[in-house]
Amino acid sequence: MYKIAVAGTGYIGLVAGVCFAEVGHMVTCVDIDETKINTLKAGVCPIFETGLQELFRKNTEAGRIAFTTDFREAYREADAIFIGVGTPEQPDGSADLSAIAQVARQIAESLEKECLVVVKSTVPVGTNDKVEQFIHDFLVNDVKVEVASNPEFLSQGSAVHDTLYARRIIIGTESEWAEERLREIYEPFQLPIVSVSRRSAEMIKYAANDFLALKISYMNDIANLCELVGADIEDVAEGMSYDERIGSKFLSAGIGFGGSCFPKDTKALDYMARQHGYELRTVKAAIEVNNEQKTLLFKKASRRLITFNGLKAAVLGLTFKPGTDDIREAASVANIPLLLDQGARVHAYDPAGQSNFSALFPEGKYGKGTLTYAPSIEEVLEGANVCFIFTEWNEIKQIQPQTYKQLMRTPLIFDGRNTQSPEKMQAAGLEYHSIGRGA
Ligand code: UGA
Repeated sequence: MYKIAVAGTGYIGLVAGVCFAEVGHMVTCVDIDETKINTLKAGVCPIFETGLQELFRKNTEAGRIAFTTDFREAYREADAIFIGVGTPEQPDGSADLSAIAQVARQIAESLEKECLVVVKSTVPVGTNDKVEQFIHDFLVNDVKVEVASNPEFLSQGSAVHDTLYARRIIIGTESEWAEERLREIYEPFQLPIVSVSRRSAEMIKYAANDFLALKISYMNDIANLCELVGADIEDVAEGMSYDERIGSKFLSAGIGFGGSCFPKDTKALDYMARQHGYELRTVKAAIEVNNEQKTLLFKKASRRLITFNGLKAAVLGLTFKPGTDDIREAASVANIPLLLDQGARVHAYDPAGQSNFSALFPEGKYGKGTLTYAPSIEEVLEGANVCFIFTEWNEIKQIQPQTYKQLMRTPLIFDGRNTQSPEKMQAAGLEYHSIGRGA
């Protein structure tokens, strides 16, 4: 059992902290955000994530996890400190490492015994070397400290499961001592461990995320061609999926990838390559296709309708994917302002993302357009002239064609997530436009 501190209580930090506690380590989670720490101390989990609340409560009650803003106290005697703070995108596409630097400085000022610092955040290749140097530069006490890379591969919505039953743990170390300590920390998880150099570990994270982003953009590109040549992307994807070399996951065409990872990580790798005088053409193409794809539904609808002015536009789904309340880089964020700009009366529904979305876009008037949030799918569809589907929540997938037909004033649907069968929608008398399945 190790004494572990975790810096940052976002998705990465909090889930890692709770899971380390679950396997028996003593964990202290640190954040500079006092409100967040007070919420956690009060026993409230600030993140919407399947299974997290239960594990969080269980381990808090068992005294295996604590929360504090006092970094000195948490870092002083830790055997290992995991850094899980954000590395957001800067305007030029590079990753902002200021939060990492701040934590590194705090660690250097606090350590009183030997410690392994582990970077979980997604960082450009070479960052771990710099963090180690930085800590040594500012180290107050003469103690042994090394840095290891341990990128995170969890997905939002299945974060706890992805951590406890990860396909692999990547550890990037530069000494036997660091590798041994990290192996021992992960030993109770009983998962396959891949041990590589720090730089390779940093690269694995970007290469994996960007490969998945590429896969999605490729399918979206093919979907657009399917529309032109009269093929069906769902059938094409199924046919491709039987080839084990391709696999069946991440073949869903739609309105592009969003969230806090793929958009940021594709741009960061592209930036990193340019910094080294190299043009990463494949990743660039994935970014380009995604940018186009995001507003594809709006463009399709604009071609079909003379104007959106005064029309009731029903919006189903605001989050970047189902199972989360996160709206970062979601298609809704790109499309709703376009509809409002054109004078549409937008009525939106999402089972989890409404409060995050309304923090960004409160209800009210936007020029000629208006934005309203509704508590149910039925209210959003009632009397609508057009409907946009941005997220494939189960309850949205389960809407029967008859429901659209009965409730909407004009049964015109633009589905960015292929939630319905075009044949059934057509049979029900609906005009249905989706992705890669006919114009
Ligand atoms: C992604 C990766 O899947 C994780 O492995 C990684 O750890 C994480 O980023 C991260 O770097 O932290 P996440 O952003 O939570 O996880 O979500 P995904 O499930 O990967 O979906 C990302 C976007 O791609 C969503 O907008 C989703 O709708 C879209 N997508 C996904 C498609 O359009 N088609 C697909 O077939 C799959």
